[in-house]
Amino acid sequence: MESSQFVLASRPIGMPSSDNFRIEKTMLNELQDNEVLLKSWYISVDPYMRGRMNNVKSYAASFEVDQPIRGGIVAKVTDSKSKLISTGDTVVGMLPWATYSIEKAENLRKVDTQKVPPGYYLGVLGMPGFTAYFGMMEIGKPEKGDTVVVSGAAGAVGIVAGQIAKMQGSKVIGIAGSDEKCRILKEKFGYDETINYKTSKSLRKEIGELCPQGVDVYFDNVGSEITDAVVANLDFHARIALCGQISQYNNTKPYTGPSILPMLLTRSVRLQGFLVSNYAVRFGEALSHLTQWVNDGKLKYTETIIQGFDKLPDAFLGLFSGNNLGKMLVKTE
Ligand SMILES: NC(=O)c1ccc[n+]([C@@H]2O[C@H](COP(=O)([O-])OP(=O)(O)OC[C@H]3O[C@@H](n4cnc5c(N)ncnc54)[C@H](OP(=O)(O)O)[C@@H]3O)[C@@H](O)[C@H]2O)c1
Repeated sequence: MESSQFVLASRPIGMPSSDNFRIEKTMLNELQDNEVLLKSWYISVDPYMRGRMNNVKSYAASFEVDQPIRGGIVAKVTDSKSKLISTGDTVVGMLPWATYSIEKAENLRKVDTQKVPPGYYLGVLGMPGFTAYFGMMEIGKPEKGDTVVVSGAAGAVGIVAGQIAKMQGSKVIGIAGSDEKCRILKEKFGYDETINYKTSKSLRKEIGELCPQGVDVYFDNVGSEITDAVVANLDFHARIALCGQISQYNNTKPYTGPSILPMLLTRSVRLQGFLVSNYAVRFGEALSHLTQWVNDGKLKYTETIIQGFDKLPDAFLGLFSGNNLGKMLVKTE
């Protein structure tokens, strides 16, 4: 059977472009025992995939040139030689960016798409949701009366992180890249205050005005100048959940901002970097809490869905110019 797939055509230097991807036809093998044939339905594009385009040893293996890009995908099972998964089931797994693929059933998880949109398993009920849950609950540990700042607040992780902090009784301030995103964060996602970092005259001053008692928890998705401005406003015994540094993923030279360690020392701040995979044995716990909150209407979510398999590179590149509100996904049909 014929399938279309995206391979890594070349490794980017700095900001990636569509030239770094190539679409090609491929023939699938015959289905073997314990395997299923999958039709990709919703395909996730995530910032961490930028790191996998480099040839650098990291926590996630590099993509190979001329080999398929892989990522989180919700797919429909169109044929099965497995006792675990049947034709007609919907599954989620780490799969090639392909219209059709074959995978061992043991590498897939069946999902129920009756109550929530299928893409949620790549967002609030998937890796980004788990990241927000563990980063906020285990590292940020916001309490009633605390002031919490989230950067990248209108993204797949940030929208969830802010709402979790709000559920703990904290005041939550979101930093995002447009007035529209800031408005929606307040109106739909319960953020108390927001700052558009692209139009702010002084981020440091604005954060200081919105957080007169200082920032108790900083959930950092972004890094660089935004983080410098938050760090300048930290309260004593603040916690920083260091989740992502998207502003630096395409840098060709290291960012050299002010030296923040003296501030962390004198304010007795605890900073912890983390990978969601650190908590892999507890994903079931996160899924059960997040599912409950979504079903109860306590946790709201949104997606930016780009239509068409061939739009995958554009959707991925759009993450670096803020084209998404909530989880960025490509729907194949
Ligand atoms: N530690 C972990 O295990 C883990 C897991 C998942 C994700 N992450 C990290 O968490 C962060 C958010 O991931 P996500 O999936 O939720 O992505 P996302 O926020 O849905 O998408 C990326 C967003 O980042 C913002 N952005 C892009 N370039 C920026 C820049 N130079 N400066 C400031 N903001 C910029 C854009 O929003 P604006 O319009 O606001 O600019 C864009 O919409 C990323 O850094 C990611 O690598 C970490």
